[in-house]
Amino acid sequence: MIGEALTLQALEKRYDKTVAIEDFSLGIRAGEFLSILGPSGSGKTTLLTMIAGFETPSSGMIKIGPRDVTYLAPNKRNIGMVFQRYALFPHLSVAANVAFPLRMRGIAEAAIKRKVDAVLEQVHLEAYAKRYPRQLSGGQQQRVAVARAIIFEPPVLLMDEPLGALDRKLREKLQFEIKNLQQRLGATVVYVTHDQEEALTMSDRVAVVAAGRLAQIGSPIELYRSPTSAFVGDFIGRMNFLEATYAGHHGGRHAIRMRDGGVVTIDTADSRPAAFSAGQSVSLAVRPERLSLAPQGRDRGALLTGTIEASVFAGSFFLFLVRPYGETAALWQVQMPADPLSGNLRQGDHVDIVPEHGALRLFEKSGA
Ligand SMILES: Nc1ncnc2c1ncn2[C@@H]1O[C@H](COP(=O)(O)OP(=O)(O)O)[C@@H](O)[C@H]1O
Ligand SMILES: [Mg+2]
Repeated sequence: MIGEALTLQALEKRYDKTVAIEDFSLGIRAGEFLSILGPSGSGKTTLLTMIAGFETPSSGMIKIGPRDVTYLAPNKRNIGMVFQRYALFPHLSVAANVAFPLRMRGIAEAAIKRKVDAVLEQVHLEAYAKRYPRQLSGGQQQRVAVARAIIFEPPVLLMDEPLGALDRKLREKLQFEIKNLQQRLGATVVYVTHDQEEALTMSDRVAVVAAGRLAQIGSPIELYRSPTSAFVGDFIGRMNFLEATYAGHHGGRHAIRMRDGGVVTIDTADSRPAAFSAGQSVSLAVRPERLSLAPQGRDRGALLTGTIEASVFAGSFFLFLVRPYGETAALWQVQMPADPLSGNLRQGDHVDIVPEHGALRLFEKSGA
């Protein structure tokens, strides 16, 4: 593809027997904010350190623009990097920390001074130039790290859980600031996080990583609405699962046999075009906000029946936890708007769990 700022081609990284990254291919557009989202240990940092050049891939290729940089030294790649721990030089002032990449490049002092002032203003730290890192809060230190990473205007900026050490309020504020700065600069950002909310709110696209592999890539809305695996459905937002058996096609619909022997059918358009075979174990999945509860026996579209074990009032909605009959499966979560109907439901009530039309999804039973 033309115009990609960063290209990863069939990247692989092995440490002895550990395969940290496997068959990983991805193209990142210029000006794009892309998040790498995955659980701890899934290979996110390994991926970023290979892009930065601190680790060499076992195989595969990394390109910045049209240029192959797979074996190029980190300081030749022109990449800005922000780490989870601020990694500032403790003996240098804020201004000197931020100036560091320019001094390394032998830029004239007068030009450095101008550039440092401008960048500190962009991260709202112009009054702190003479301070030392230990005299700053965590959020301020991380802003210094961001300033240092953007001062030489790198074509690609890498961030590895940069807000992971901060408390929630501050994290949300800095998420907004970083996103805002990225848009003003038109910078290409690869942002690593294990926090799905952070990934969804900040990114143009999100790459979900599971055990060293790319599980799915897409816009936040695509990933939320159309996960292609149980893993992604479960990792992004909340999802209820029901183990069942695939029974076959009937008139353009999938037929699924439940544990109690009942059969439900779902539109093929609503689920993956994967080739399921009769007798195969599958997972039926549905999001809590696409379910509602009705007094037992009232609704013929019920997927399950069960007992309300708990209800949580969350202002604009209720979250009900329902124990399905005859299922050893986990409690089901049902989210309903707070209205007279949901307000009348009580703990211990026997209820039908009713999915919205088109809300059910079908996945291969996840092995891992
Ligand atoms: N230097 C290393 N030597 C051996 N194994 C490593 C090394 N770095 C990472 N790993 C392993 O690679 C896997 C991915 O780690 P990492 O990239 O740090 O994951 P994440 O950043 O998603 O938490 C883990 O199993 C980890 O133990
Ligand atoms: Mg990591």
